Order: sequence, then C-alpha cells, then structure tokens
Amino acid sequence: MVRNVGLVIAAIAIGGFVIYWLFNWLAGRKEIGAELHTPPNRRTGDSDEKLETRRLDVGLATGLFSLIIIGIALPLYWLGEPGRQEGRIVRDDSHAVEQGRHLYEERCASCHGTVNGPGGQVNHVLLDNNSTYLANVSWQVPSLSAVLYRFSESEVRYVLDYGRPNTPMAAWGGPGGGPFTTQQVDDILAYIESEQILPAELRDRVSTGIIATARQKVLKENPELSEDIDAIERATTEMVEQAATNQVLMGELLFNNVGDGGVFGCARCHTPGWSYKADSLVESTGGLIGPEIVGGGAFGPSLRNGAVTRQFDTALEQAIFVGAGSENGVKYGNFGQGDGGGQMPSFGKCVGDRDAGDRDRIKRHNFCLSHNAGILTQEQLNAVVAYERSESLNSK
Ligand code: HEC
Ligand code: HEC
Repeated sequence: MVRNVGLVIAAIAIGGFVIYWLFNWLAGRKEIGAELHTPPNRRTGDSDEKLETRRLDVGLATGLFSLIIIGIALPLYWLGEPGRQEGRIVRDDSHAVEQGRHLYEERCASCHGTVNGPGGQVNHVLLDNNSTYLANVSWQVPSLSAVLYRFSESEVRYVLDYGRPNTPMAAWGGPGGGPFTTQQVDDILAYIESEQILPAELRDRVSTGIIATARQKVLKENPELSEDIDAIERATTEMVEQAATNQVLMGELLFNNVGDGGVFGCARCHTPGWSYKADSLVESTGGLIGPEIVGGGAFGPSLRNGAVTRQFDTALEQAIFVGAGSENGVKYGNFGQGDGGGQMPSFGKCVGDRDAGDRDRIKRHNFCLSHNAGILTQEQLNAVVAYERSESLNSK
C-alpha cells in the first residue's frame, strides 16, 4: 500500500518534470530568429491585471499543489516507516531461523531428533574417571521441545557453548572449543525457539509421561505381570488415580518422569546412571557400573539423606528454588553456590509468585514472558518437593 502511494507520487513527479521540460523546450524553439523581434528585455512588460490575476493564480496553484504533495506524501511515508522496519526484523529472524534449521538438521538432529519431537537415543562409550572402558551404553537424549520453558536463552547458550561434561553432549560453541561461531549459535537458538511446543501440549506431554512412569513402576514392582497387558494397564490406571490424592506418590512419578527423554523429571540429572539404564548393566559389568540410586547425585547434587532439608529450611523455600531453578553465580538455600551456568532448570512459571515470597526472577527472557507457563504446575512442584523431603529419600 505505502509502496503504491510512493510509486504514484514518483510517477506524478516524473510526469510533471517531463511536461515542464517539454514546454520549456518548445518555448525555447520559438525563440529561434528572435533577433528579428524586439528582444524580451526591451518589450513592455505584462500589465498589472495580467500579472496579478492569471499568472499569480497559476503560480499560487502550482505552489499549493506541490505543498499538498509534500504535506501528504511525507507523513504517509513516515507512517509506513515502522512497518517497513518491522518487516526488516521479521526477514532477519526468518533468515536466522532458516540458517539455524540447516545447522540443527546437520549437527543435532541425529541425537535429539526433531526439536518438537520426543528426544532420542545415542550410543556412547562409558569410561570411568581414569578413562578406562566400562561399557557401551545407549544414552537417553532429552527432547528440546520445551527447553526454553526450563532454561533462559543464555542458559541454553551455555550448554551449547560448553556441552555437558561426562555425557555425549559435546561443546559446540567457540568458548568451549567447539566449531560454531556466535552467529551460528544465535541462529540455532532462533530455530529452537521457533519450534517450541505450546503450553497446552506441554501439559499433555507431562501427563502422558506420568502414566508411562507409573507403568514402569508397576512392572518393576510386579515383574510377574509382564505378560499380562490388561493387568498392567489396570494397575497403572489405579496407581495414577491413587497419585491424585497421594502427594508423595505423585512426587515420585514426577521425579522419575520418563516422558520426552526425561525432560519433565529430575532423575536424569539427580539419579546416577538414569540416562543409560545403569541397573541393567550392574551384573554384566561385574559391579563396575553402580545401580541407579534415586536422587543419589549425578550431574546435579545428591538430594538424599537430609541434603535438601539442610539446604532449605522449609518446603516452601525449596519449591521456590525448584520453580525458579539456579542462576549462574546466584547463591540459594543455606549454602547453595549457583555454580556452572545455572544448569538446574526452572520447573515453574516464568513470573514468580511474589505473594508466596518468591524472589524476583532474573530470567525474564522473551520466550518465557510471552508464554508464562512452566514445565510443572504449582501443585506438581509441591508434590515433587514433598517427595524429596519424604522418608523414601531421607531414611538411612
Ligand atoms: C552425540 C549426540 C548429541 C549431539 C550431536 C547433540 N546433542 Fe545435545 N545433548 C545430548 C545428550 C545426551 C544430552 C543430555 C546430556 C545429559 O544427560 O545431561 C544433550 C543435552 C542438550 C541440551 C540440554 C537440554 C536439557 O534440557 O538438559 C541442549 C540445549 C542440547 N543438547 C542442544 C543440542 C544442540 C543445539 C545440538 C546441535 C548443535 C546438540 N545438542 C547436539 C546429545 C547430543
Ligand atoms: C538438567 C539437569 C537437572 C535437572 C533435570 C534437575 N536438576 Fe536439580 N539441580 C541440578 C544442578 C546442576 C543443581 C546444582 C545447582 C547449582 O549449583 O547451580 C541442582 C540442584 C537441585 C537442588 C538443590 C540441591 C542442593 O542441595 O543444593 C534441588 C532441591 C533440586 N535440584 C531439585 C530438582 C528437582 C525437584 C528436579 C525435577 C523437578 C530437578 N532438580 C531436576 C540439575 C538438574
């Protein structure tokens, strides 16, 4: 629209100029042989009547006309300017997203699958601290479909830059010695952001994960049922129903949530060996690989045997921490340091509940603010905290 107006104005201006030039040229031609007549400077001038009426009118009309064009065209152009600038930003963004998509498909999809998919698996050679071979394992790769609900952009950038120590996730960015430029990491982030799932789907996936986790627990506790699909399903449904009124059981299912590569739960970072099913390797490695001790500490610290009650005086304080996650260099609890790039995710909504004493969250990044949904509801946060503070993780 603005463009068309501009074109019309340009056409009028050019047309007007051509007509002016043509008249000038024709008038010039008439003057050939003018020396036969009285030279113009010696002719008697036009009468006052002629000057003050027709000429003046024509002059004034032309002036008014140009003024209207300037008065309308400039404001119109000015009105269109913000739209033009926005168009430019959108073009830049979609360009970044396109570049990011290519990089992602080349470098990340083999492990993570599609961004909005359920995650994946990757073969990995497990070494001990002295780089001695332990076993070939299949490592759970987290889905990135909701990664910006639990980490800020700068925290995701931290993972991309430095990778995750002792896991198949390598350092990709320059700061960690990886191959990507800052621009390439920006592009990948833009692409990941463009593919995040919406809050309603997030809720669905968390629930589906809870059911799958209950099914796993049923099978573990009742191996004799493994052939009887109906019985497994009945017991699973029963357990999920029971969890609706049993906060600690619900917390256990949330803690161990297997959905989307474990991204809605805690076990993948707080239970040693969870990501490669260590329990199934204890025997074959003659105990070189230890069992999965729930909450026993892996990438995140141990949450067992009084660790969390020493760290947080009340369940409320702990729920606030789990909701907000850690931030690089920000102390938490009684002695938490906030080391390592803020890698304890935020499980609650982006904007904290100040009335509940929540601290002002620094993670006010665009994605979070525009969705303000968390991986877990407040009820679920309370349940997972109740489980962490319950006897099952804290009895010797
Ligand atoms: C060799 C397989 C592999 C490749 C390739 C890979 N990743 Fe990962 N990535 C992983 C694994 C495994 C984890 C989880 C590590 C753990 O258990 O803590 C992970 C973790 C992550 C995380 C943290 C997610 C979270 O919620 O904890 C992000 C973000 C991530 N990867 C992004 C990427 C991007 C972007 C690329 C491409 C540049 C990429 N990864 C390439 C295997 C891979
Ligand atoms: C991506 C890995 C990761 C996941 C998933 C994760 N955590 Fe953490 N968690 C950490 C890290 C890392 C720390 C240490 C924080 C720091 O020093 O900044 C931590 C610290 C904690 C602490 C404080 C412990 C202490 O003694 O300092 C609690 C409590 C906790 N996590 C609970 C949870 C709960 C509940 C969940 C699941 C809802 C969860 N975590 C999921 C990585 C993770």
